[in-house]
Amino acid sequence: MHSKSLLLLLALNLYLTLCYHTLADDAAAMHELASSITSTSLYNWSTSSDPCNGWAGVLCDGGRVSKIQIGNMGVSGFLPAALNSLTGLTRLEVMGNQINGSLPVISSLSNLQYLFLHSNNFNSIPQNFFAGLNSLLSVSIGDNPLSWSLGEDLKSASNLVNFTASDCGMQGPIPDFFGTSFPSLELLELSYNNLTGEMPQSFAGSTVKFLHLNSQKGGKLTGGIDVIANMTSLQQLWLHSNSFTGPLPDFSELVNLEDLALRDNQLTGPVPDSLTKLASLKSINLTNNLLQGPVPVFSQSVKLDLDVKSERFCRTDVGNCDANVNILLSIAKSFGYPKTFAENWRGNNACNNWPGITCDRALNIVIINFSHFALNGVISPDFGSLIYIQKLVLSNNSLTGTIPSTLTNLKNLRELDVSYNSLHGKVPSFSDNVIVITTGNPDIGKDEPENADGMKKPASSIALIVVCTIIPVLIVLAVLFCCYKKIKICADNWLNRMRRSDYGSCKPMKDSSSPLSSVNPSAVLLGDKNTKCSTKSNTDGLSFCEPTSWVVPIEILRQVTNNFSEDNILGRGGFGTVYKGEFNDGTKAVKRMENNVIGSSGLTEFKSEVSVLTRVRHRNLVALLGYCLDENEKILVYEYMPQGTLTRHLFEWKKEGLEPLSWKRRLFIGLDVARGVEYLHRLAQQISFIHRDLKPSNILLGDDMRAKVSDFGLVKKAPDGMYSVETRLAGTFGYLAPEYAATGRVTTKADVYSFGVILMELITGRRAIENNQLGESFHLATWFRRKYYTDKVEFKSTIDPYIDQEEETLSSVTTIAELACYCCAREAHQRPNMGHVVNVLSSLAETWKPVDAELEENYGVEFNLTLPEALRQWQEPDTSLTSEASQLSGMSSGR
Ligand SMILES: *[C@@H]1O[C@H](CO)[C@@H](O)[C@H](O)[C@H]1NC(C)=O
Ligand SMILES: *[C@@H]1O[C@H](CO)[C@@H](O)[C@H](O)[C@H]1NC(C)=O
Ligand SMILES: *[C@@H]1O[C@H](CO)[C@@H](O)[C@H](O)[C@H]1NC(C)=O
Ligand SMILES: *[C@@H]1O[C@H](CO)[C@@H](O)[C@H](O)[C@H]1NC(C)=O
Ligand SMILES: *[C@@H]1O[C@H](CO)[C@@H](O)[C@H](O)[C@H]1NC(C)=O
Ligand SMILES: *[C@@H]1O[C@H](CO)[C@@H](O)[C@H](O)[C@H]1NC(C)=O
Ligand SMILES: *[C@@H]1O[C@H](CO)[C@@H](O)[C@H](O)[C@H]1NC(C)=O
Ligand SMILES: *[C@@H]1O[C@H](CO)[C@@H](O)[C@H](O)[C@H]1NC(C)=O
Repeated sequence: MHSKSLLLLLALNLYLTLCYHTLADDAAAMHELASSITSTSLYNWSTSSDPCNGWAGVLCDGGRVSKIQIGNMGVSGFLPAALNSLTGLTRLEVMGNQINGSLPVISSLSNLQYLFLHSNNFNSIPQNFFAGLNSLLSVSIGDNPLSWSLGEDLKSASNLVNFTASDCGMQGPIPDFFGTSFPSLELLELSYNNLTGEMPQSFAGSTVKFLHLNSQKGGKLTGGIDVIANMTSLQQLWLHSNSFTGPLPDFSELVNLEDLALRDNQLTGPVPDSLTKLASLKSINLTNNLLQGPVPVFSQSVKLDLDVKSERFCRTDVGNCDANVNILLSIAKSFGYPKTFAENWRGNNACNNWPGITCDRALNIVIINFSHFALNGVISPDFGSLIYIQKLVLSNNSLTGTIPSTLTNLKNLRELDVSYNSLHGKVPSFSDNVIVITTGNPDIGKDEPENADGMKKPASSIALIVVCTIIPVLIVLAVLFCCYKKIKICADNWLNRMRRSDYGSCKPMKDSSSPLSSVNPSAVLLGDKNTKCSTKSNTDGLSFCEPTSWVVPIEILRQVTNNFSEDNILGRGGFGTVYKGEFNDGTKAVKRMENNVIGSSGLTEFKSEVSVLTRVRHRNLVALLGYCLDENEKILVYEYMPQGTLTRHLFEWKKEGLEPLSWKRRLFIGLDVARGVEYLHRLAQQISFIHRDLKPSNILLGDDMRAKVSDFGLVKKAPDGMYSVETRLAGTFGYLAPEYAATGRVTTKADVYSFGVILMELITGRRAIENNQLGESFHLATWFRRKYYTDKVEFKSTIDPYIDQEEETLSSVTTIAELACYCCAREAHQRPNMGHVVNVLSSLAETWKPVDAELEENYGVEFNLTLPEALRQWQEPDTSLTSEASQLSGMSSGR
């Protein structure tokens, strides 16, 4: 009994000692802390030696320090290592201060639930900082200048609910365990770090409601976002400003999702209905991706951030895509909507230079060549819907799966090349006249693909590759090297001859005997002979364009455009890319047409059109000076207009650092355009000349700020001078006359309508169509007419604020406004003809004349080539004209 009580005493003593020690340790640790940090808010920490006795921001429980809450108190200094002995601590809150140095090791704080360290100046963090912190519920460490990566040490905090670590230098991939280790996780913020890699697939099972991964700073997050389809607890998802790719997933299970930020990524494919119809959605931003398909329509109540122009929607207004576009999109779907397609498949016309797509003149897709497109995925059965297709080339990709049997339905198919992929399965049976190439698919014909191990190449086949690949490559290189030298010599000769005004060919040719009269080098472009530019092979196997007056050899075009260098690009659009060409006799614009625009079948016809255009001369039409046309190249050379487009001066002047256009300039520009178009229309009585795509980007300005109309006549297919011509729509939304848009039938009055819209743009400084955030378009013509006809006073508010509104100007603006409305009358027959328009404009311009004589003076009515002269030339073919030209004359007189 005696010994028993002794033992008890000893035990009690031990307990008290331990307990006292702990209490003493807590106090010691708190004194350490007090001496490591300073803050005026903590002045009373020195008034008592016992931290549990009224220290501001310190709470104790049973004599132990349980909470330190000194956030946002202007604290500076550092956190001492002694903190690790405060094992009773459940909350440590030091956020919003200026504490610096390293975070201490606190692995003994196994009761710690709340750890708020954010918004300080901590600049280093120990390895495995979270190890031992098994009770954590909520951690915030963001907004600190750290540089670290999160390790497995956090995994043991299995009750974790909130983890925020934005803008704190976190690197490496997002740890997998966020998806699996925290069954109560609600909030995960990792924005503004340097995270890289993909979203972990393990996120599929996560319970997280608020997920912020946006705005990574370095290599950014990449890969697809399909895993979010399974993150069904999400309410707020911010993934913006990363490099995510691939399509939007199915959102139908995300029934709590309210706020979705996806902007500034590279997401492709259409916006799915499961997202636009998501009832919980309140706010979404999508701008600046590569989204495809139709413009999505969200409910009115959704706050939408979507700049339609930053995407690859088939059209800028709401509505369905073209049937071919839909088929191609569903084909792209099977390849995972690759970025290359999304980037380059622009607009709603697959025949408009979409990579890999070739059309015939009737705009049927006849060739698809996706060879070497780095495609993954499978061959879509929807290829079977492109019924005009003749050649389908999918070689040298990484396609898997089988060859769909729908391809056998393609009646026009002549060649199917699927070589060098990883296809398997039986090849469907095609009719005998289809060439089917399946080489380089080891598993073709087998039911299942063999696993990768079975595909090891034996050494002998490596030798074979050397013999069959490398040696031919060397030979090709050698041949190219020789040819390069020869081509260069050929081109040099050309230039020399140009300089000497000797226009022979690389090799003497029959008709090189007739030298041109002019000694001006530009005569190469301005002569009046009409021959072929073909790629002929001579005995050296070299290609060159036959040299003639109008025809410019391709080598020269290469030379003057620095081999069509990016740096020489003046603009794109209107069927091709325009380059700046530095010719001997000055700068010219070199337009390289997209091959699909014409297709080889229409080449002859196109050439004859072009040769007509080389004869159209008017000071308000941009002159076509030469061309080079053959199966491979369709290049037109125009006069160069140094001031660029009207768009630039009217809508982009601020960005470009230009002066706003004065009203007088606008008036003269309007007059110039009207004169150019009137000239075209007068020709239209003889042969069909309707511009059909008048808009500011087709109006070019010279250094004198006088305007010329460009891009006319090239899309016209009119065989003769019928009054109205049914064609495919070639215009641009916002400028299209209603009857043209509705029926596709075009008359000169469609140009009058477009011209009216341009006048409205000149008056208001607004574009014909402005898209607002909802994708609804603001239609200038409708709006302007309404303002003008309902309230003449309010109408004043529509005038461009950069137009100086003095009285004389105002009356002239009003006259032009009236003219503009007249031009945009709904019924074509109510619109004036261009002759009337020219009269109105020139009488107004007249009133400025005293003020600005020089503007109009050297600007009479004279044409470089008068109309009757021009017509006579076309109708009485010169005997030296070639067959093309006679065809042309047949065209103009064959009615
Ligand atoms: C120290 O300040 C806190 C709050 O400012 C107060 O609650 C506490 O009583 C003070 N302690 C002493 C010992 O005065
Ligand atoms: C922490 O900040 C103080 C000034 O508040 C400074 O004197 C000290 O050098 C800083 N320490 C570190 C490690 O940055
Ligand atoms: C987690 O964060 C949310 C949102 O900030 C908050 O409402 C919730 O109380 C936090 N939960 C915990 C356990 O801290
Ligand atoms: C994060 O990335 C940015 C941008 O690449 C870089 O400037 C910064 O140094 C990186 N920070 C860290 C902590 O690696
Ligand atoms: C997502 O859920 C679907 C259907 O439940 C399942 O088939 C799929 O494997 C899941 N994806 C992931 C990544 O877990
Ligand atoms: C996108 O949405 C998120 C969440 O609403 C917002 O924080 C972010 O600022 C938005 N991004 C832009 C660039 O508007
Ligand atoms: C397909 O395209 C590739 C590369 O663009 C080209 O080399 C090849 O000749 C084309 N094949 C056919 C059949 O047009
Ligand atoms: C496709 O790839 C194979 C194997 O790599 C190669 O032999 C073949 O020449 C390639 N085809 C073309 C058209 O380049």
